[in-house]
Amino acid sequence: MTGRVVELRSDTFTRPGPAMRRAMAEAEVGDDVWDEDPTVDRLEALAATVTGKEAALFVTSGTQGNLVGLLSHTRRGDEIILGDRSHIFVNETAGASVVGGLQLRTLPNREDGRLRPDEVAAAIRDRDQHHPRTGAVAIENTHNACGGAVLRPEEIADVAGVAHAAGVPVHLDGARIFNAAVALGVPAAEIAAPVDSITFCLSKGLGAPVGSLLCGCSDYIAQARRYRKMLGGAMRQSGILAAAGLVALEQNVNRLAEDHANASLLAEGLSRIPGVEVDPGRVETNIVFFDVAGTGVPAQAIVERASRAGVRLAGGATSFRAVTSSEVTRDDILHALNAIDAAVRQPATAGV
Ligand SMILES: Cc1ncc(COP(=O)(O)O)c(C=O)c1O
Repeated sequence: MTGRVVELRSDTFTRPGPAMRRAMAEAEVGDDVWDEDPTVDRLEALAATVTGKEAALFVTSGTQGNLVGLLSHTRRGDEIILGDRSHIFVNETAGASVVGGLQLRTLPNREDGRLRPDEVAAAIRDRDQHHPRTGAVAIENTHNACGGAVLRPEEIADVAGVAHAAGVPVHLDGARIFNAAVALGVPAAEIAAPVDSITFCLSKGLGAPVGSLLCGCSDYIAQARRYRKMLGGAMRQSGILAAAGLVALEQNVNRLAEDHANASLLAEGLSRIPGVEVDPGRVETNIVFFDVAGTGVPAQAIVERASRAGVRLAGGATSFRAVTSSEVTRDDILHALNAIDAAVRQPATAGV
């Protein structure tokens, strides 16, 4: 054990730096439920500007942003069309169904995270009284379970085009939209232009401790504010948290490129370790999926061996998702590669 910790389990492990902590300590605050917190107002105004929407709402998490976002587009009994590997479908405890009475209808996510526009068009319901109404289409960018894949604005426009032609709104789970923007070299607003609403997270690669923003037109955000209250997400002197969000948006977006370079370095290094399967060509942002079945070493043994060298990995039966962030330097990646290489070279019988 070297004393060094290389945190690759998620970019949610990022901790606020000194500038962010100072901004939090010095934040001007008021009661935001009374609309008297100037720092929250500033954050919501900035979020609306950077996503190119009329208005924004500060919510507690990405999960709450997606839930409030879908509720605000729909009525009970509506159907949501979304990807079978989407975070909303897989990882949000069926909140849209439980809270919103919404039926989730999945379409296959392609390897690159896309939904096919023709499949979306075919899934949109007609007006037959037997059928649920299609309430919204939800897409995700970057796509977490598809290895941080980036959807391009024109791909989003294709899906939004078929939805809008049928009068159906489109919600974008843009938890990591700034990773997509930095990878594409375009403003987030350009990526969000074709959709009606977008959620993005401050508490992942952008380094804030808490919070996400839901952005859309003013009437929609007014409705979302009511749902946020209903869900217990209306906060009081939340300017302390919003201040961190302002630093995240103003100072931490461009540095995401460093995380992407580190993810590519990790993938390339992993591809040289015998038995490890990874496609460095598919790493577009800060997420790397790799499979260790070919090493003959159980994933859990790799987790434990790497952990002894300070490298924190999260894995399933044979595969891992490693995520780079401001917590991880280039040198940390080289250290992690050495640790993983050593872990897979120890025979399975060597125990952990
Ligand atoms: C794509 C995506 N959407 C939404 C979320 C939910 O965010 P939170 O953990 O803040 O609820 C996550 C979290 O990892 C995510 O990866």
